[in-house]
Amino acid sequence: MAGRTAARRDLLISLLIVAAAVVGFPSVSASSAVFPIYGNVYPHGVYYVAMNIGNPPKPYFLDIDTGSDLSWIQCDAPCVRCSKGPHPWYEPKRNTLLACSDHLCAALHSGGAYDQKCDQCDYDIHYEDRGSSLGVLVADAFALRLTNTTVARPILAFGCGYNQQFARQNPQAATDGVLGLGTGKVSVPSQLSNQGVTKNVFGHCLSEKGGGFLFFGSDLVPSSRMTWAPMSQVASGNYYSPGMANLYWGTQSLGVKQMDVVLDTGSTFSYFGSQSYKAFLSAVKSDLSKKPLKEFNDPALPVCWKGPKSFKSLTDVKNYFKPLALSFVNGKRVLFEIPPENYLILTKDGNVCLGILNGTEAGLDNLNVIGDISLQDVMVVYDNEKHQIGWVRAACKGQAKSQTSLP
Ligand SMILES: *[C@@H]1O[C@H](CO)[C@@H](O)[C@H](O)[C@H]1NC(C)=O
Ligand SMILES: *[C@@H]1O[C@H](CO)[C@@H](O)[C@H](O)[C@H]1NC(C)=O
Repeated sequence: MAGRTAARRDLLISLLIVAAAVVGFPSVSASSAVFPIYGNVYPHGVYYVAMNIGNPPKPYFLDIDTGSDLSWIQCDAPCVRCSKGPHPWYEPKRNTLLACSDHLCAALHSGGAYDQKCDQCDYDIHYEDRGSSLGVLVADAFALRLTNTTVARPILAFGCGYNQQFARQNPQAATDGVLGLGTGKVSVPSQLSNQGVTKNVFGHCLSEKGGGFLFFGSDLVPSSRMTWAPMSQVASGNYYSPGMANLYWGTQSLGVKQMDVVLDTGSTFSYFGSQSYKAFLSAVKSDLSKKPLKEFNDPALPVCWKGPKSFKSLTDVKNYFKPLALSFVNGKRVLFEIPPENYLILTKDGNVCLGILNGTEAGLDNLNVIGDISLQDVMVVYDNEKHQIGWVRAACKGQAKSQTSLP
């Protein structure tokens, strides 16, 4: 999840700067593209896709983030501060730089001052976890295998990030950058739709066993069984939100006043605001007071328990915990269920920990963030055309296999 500040900075980049307009992709009727997802909640803490970018195309692993708009890749421009990623850094060419006069540069800087006659479109993005990336916008070809087997190569704008700050010490990062899936104009689904490649609809299915799939376009959206809520605005930013919800522990209301909820795949865990976190924690603790689970300091997470013997799987513990439910009050009342396996982590030492954390401690104020842990084995669809968000329980492993080979 990003703080999304885009600021003009003086650059150290040793490129000759030439204005490069985004080449429009020939207009095609909308189709869909599917990408396999890799990674997991624990221990990796990230879900990512492999994208082939550039000419000739090279693979990059990108962290899928519904909580921010701008995609970026670690970049040899040259790099001031990059981590060793899974692939060599992206190498920008002079003709891939995005002009300051480009509407996407303007969109990125909306709200802030920037010079339309500047040489290059700089960005500086800050995330809630205090990580950041600074660089320059480029536009290059992304390879997408469409559902009808045609390979599309739209030219999409993204950041060439040559100065990163990492929230965690990660000498060997799992990814080369971020895939921005937010609601803004510069996000990948917005750009794909703008160029007529796919509709401005995308979805993800993160598997509890690791992996899953991401899709652009509406071909894979189930025509029935989905629960839909209207997309809602959240004061604190451009996030995907199904609106305000009331919180239930089993069938019992936790009496929390309506909470703002956002869905954010860029967050490994979920976060509750102070009121909901407190209510949730005391409900869990009061239920467990009669059970053979002892609170225990596991270094993995802030709140953990030890059993009579170490747990082998979440199946061993989930009967001690009730499901949570968010009841959205916008439009029709709809439920988003969070069963124990979507808020508990089994650590490598066989203890069990809460994967819903104190958002106030993380600096999120009263925003309630539904992160990867609570999105596992749910297909979530973000329909930016009909302005609605949908979800349905699904086995996300091994689905959409026929379409998941990389172009
Ligand atoms: C596949 O779909 C794209 C976009 O709709 C279209 O341009 C292309 O011609 C189609 N290819 C085939 C083989 O039908
Ligand atoms: C959550 O964090 C805030 C800020 O650190 C703290 O004041 C509050 O007591 C915490 N809530 C609980 C229930 O631990």
